[in-house]
Amino acid sequence: MSLEKHIEKVLFSAEVIANRVGQLGSEITSDFSGESESPVFVGVATGACLFLADLVRRIDVPISIDFIRVESYGSGTVSSGAPRISFDLKLDVTNKHVILVEDIVDTGNTLSCLIEHLKSKKASSVSVCTLLDKPSRRKVHFKLVGIGKFYSGFECPDDFVVGYGMDFAEQYRNLSYIGVLKPEFYM
Ligand code: PRP
Ligand code: MN
Ligand code: MG
Repeated sequence: MSLEKHIEKVLFSAEVIANRVGQLGSEITSDFSGESESPVFVGVATGACLFLADLVRRIDVPISIDFIRVESYGSGTVSSGAPRISFDLKLDVTNKHVILVEDIVDTGNTLSCLIEHLKSKKASSVSVCTLLDKPSRRKVHFKLVGIGKFYSGFECPDDFVVGYGMDFAEQYRNLSYIGVLKPEFYM
């Protein structure tokens, strides 16, 4: 059965995503073009993989790239509330500007854990660039570090969204768009 048949509706098409990613890339480029230290883009595995790959190609200043992994949801749909860093950075981010790249911010648990972690590693600033934000679901309010900014692509309705990196039970990450899963596939 084709993957398309699992999707109730498309929320953000590949074209809409690409346009917004380009705008975010331009905004970040202009914000960091005056900085002497080149920023480190840190993709939060696994969900941010596609967004990170597209975003960095729209950045026109020298950067480096790294990954970090936080486990909080497992394969379910409800946050366990106690995230744990299970795969850490390769790069030393001491005195570096870090831009955490996320597919979606929901309760804020993942980011608040990561920001504390980067603070303890003495990053000079921590920004967040998320493609989707669900502010209605926020439980933890995180504070950015230094000159850090919050970049957000789209506000997301409180549906169970998949695609463009986002999964349900590790499936659907390879969709080029973001859509709502038919209930029969997660009930
Ligand atoms: C998802 C998503 C964010 C996080 C957001 O990741 O990619 O990283 O949850 O939720 P929060 O704001 O409530 O913490 P998940 O833990 O499902 O791992 P994955 O990226 O490997 O899918
Ligand atoms: Mn994630
Ligand atoms: Mg997930």
